[in-house]
Amino acid sequence: MTIASGSAAVVCGVGAALPSRIVSNADLTARLNTTDDWIHSRTGIRRRYVAGVDLSTTDLAVRAAEQALTEGEPVRVEALVVATTTPDRCCPALAPTVATRLGLTGIPACDLAAGCTGFLYALATAAGLIAAGTARVVLVVGADRLAVLPDPEDRTTVPLFGDGAGAVVLRRGSMDETGALGPVVLGSDGTGADLIRASIPGTLEMDGAEVFRHAVDRMSAATCQAATAAGWELGDIDRLAPHQANSRITSFVARQLGVPDHRQLGNIAETGNIGAASIPVLLAGAAADGRLKPGHRTLLTAFGAGLTWGATTLTWPDLSLTHLPRGAGHDR
Ligand code: UT7
Repeated sequence: MTIASGSAAVVCGVGAALPSRIVSNADLTARLNTTDDWIHSRTGIRRRYVAGVDLSTTDLAVRAAEQALTEGEPVRVEALVVATTTPDRCCPALAPTVATRLGLTGIPACDLAAGCTGFLYALATAAGLIAAGTARVVLVVGADRLAVLPDPEDRTTVPLFGDGAGAVVLRRGSMDETGALGPVVLGSDGTGADLIRASIPGTLEMDGAEVFRHAVDRMSAATCQAATAAGWELGDIDRLAPHQANSRITSFVARQLGVPDHRQLGNIAETGNIGAASIPVLLAGAAADGRLKPGHRTLLTAFGAGLTWGATTLTWPDLSLTHLPRGAGHDR
């Protein structure tokens, strides 16, 4: 399904927050039957950031949002959408608490769960709120603590996941502005619901190889659809910003689409898979370290549990960013 908003949503702020604690592959090899070589060669991951008990998903969301609000245009936020599959509790949603901690009590605020595609679903929701006249400025946060999900003894899942949060601010604007979000392509397939499933604590189950295949196919197809919907050729893409689950997945996607290495953004070596936080943390890091520049025609695409997938276009705005999110600015 494609949602094209009547009035455009324009990105005017971006931020990210990662825990201070790093868990390297060497840390994992000390307690699991695995090797740095296996993890890095099969996934691209070298380390990940893992929150301690004193840092909740809500805390990460607040920190990312604060950075997005201080580093972008001065705006008054009128609604908040938080994408997460790892809220601190089932009920209530964490978004109202995040809003209150940001001094925004009273605004519409809700959570949204769409696995690792959550951030794109949240962008589409925010663009819809703007088009509907509900809000002129919407704060969108992707926050996850995926490291809490695997059985700590499971070498097939523990190395893959980390924790973090990223945020963007969207305001009402016009399609010809830099920062304008294009049509958002979204999809789901519940027949694959069992391919990645989790209950807390410690029971994440995933058919990795099958998920890998779906991820490549769905992200490639969604990217083509989003580019077409925006009137772009694939060759117009200056930067591909894919959800970071496995560097082999993103390489396959880029190869299928003909996007050369220097146009791909990645940070998986540093963060692992951080779910709904993946794309905004990637964008914040790449913008801060200069890999993503104002005017770059950027294609965002994601795939995750559900199954869910999505993609959209974004012409990167001119933001003055000073904070490089820890770990988010390094190799693919
Ligand atoms: O955000 C969306 C959600 N997730 C994803 O997109 C993940 C998608 N899937 C993947 O990224 C990959 O499938 C994995 C990284 C999960 C696994 O890589 P793979 O190349 O598909 O490996 P595999 O599952 O086929 O396992 C190959 C071998 C197995 O051993 P045998 O049966 O061949 O003897 C595994 O037991 O590698 C073994 N293995 C490990 N060995 C050392 C699995 N995990 C490890 C490990 N260390 N950590």
